[in-house]
Amino acid sequence: MKVRQPAFDFSTIRPHWAPVREFAQSYNAFSTVPAHIEPYLVKVMMRVKDTLGEKHSALRDNIEIFNKQEVQHCKQHVAFNKMLYRSGYAGMQALEKPYRDDYASFLANRSLRFNVAYCEGFEAMGSAAGQVFFEELEEYLEGADQAAVDLWKWHLAEEFEHREVCFQAYKALYGGGPFAYLYRVWAFIFAVKHIGTHTARVAAYLNDVDREAMTPEQREESIARQKALKGKISQASRKRLLKVLSPFYDPGKMVPSPGMAALLARFG
Ligand SMILES: [Fe+2]
Ligand SMILES: [Fe+2]
Repeated sequence: MKVRQPAFDFSTIRPHWAPVREFAQSYNAFSTVPAHIEPYLVKVMMRVKDTLGEKHSALRDNIEIFNKQEVQHCKQHVAFNKMLYRSGYAGMQALEKPYRDDYASFLANRSLRFNVAYCEGFEAMGSAAGQVFFEELEEYLEGADQAAVDLWKWHLAEEFEHREVCFQAYKALYGGGPFAYLYRVWAFIFAVKHIGTHTARVAAYLNDVDREAMTPEQREESIARQKALKGKISQASRKRLLKVLSPFYDPGKMVPSPGMAALLARFG
């Protein structure tokens, strides 16, 4: 695990950066997640580090790198999202506000156990999303803008790289007993619903803006493409996410996708 600082150039990128524009808009909606969740992850993991005290020095070192990676991800996605705001989708910011406020509320009102379990839920989604992006989306990525593909591949490969940190933090603080397991699974389902509701809302907005300029036939085709890619991503994700529900789930045992190591080597 290490910190990388890629210098992406989003100056010429367009919101429809992939041949299937609904695919691009889905990932554009996903791009709002790191802008708000990653500063929250860093704050939660700093609290974890304080709570661990002098113990677990290897885990504390990993939390340091984890936090620095998340800061870089957030920075790059915020730059990417500004391109979306400038390109006719400024209205998405109003949808991001309640989502951002939820994290402030979690930090202020919820227990450390809740916050660590929620973070682990998100991290489990992230490592599965990495495998899906590297292994299942070739048909959508062919002919796509390299800067956007590289942003996602770099981010998701690092998500995969640091996939164990929150899991280990949760285990160090709350153990591996039956209650810890059940609570982890509950928080994972909570995170999937919370994040999924937000991204669906943003994707609907982005597609609605695009569809305003479409004929009724084009609209129907667009809806059909969105349905097809949703089915593809859901199916690819479901089989991976089901493993998170197992009491034997161990992200450390997951096998990196072909291409992840080579991609990361390109960025330092
Ligand atoms: Fe990240
Ligand atoms: Fe992460």
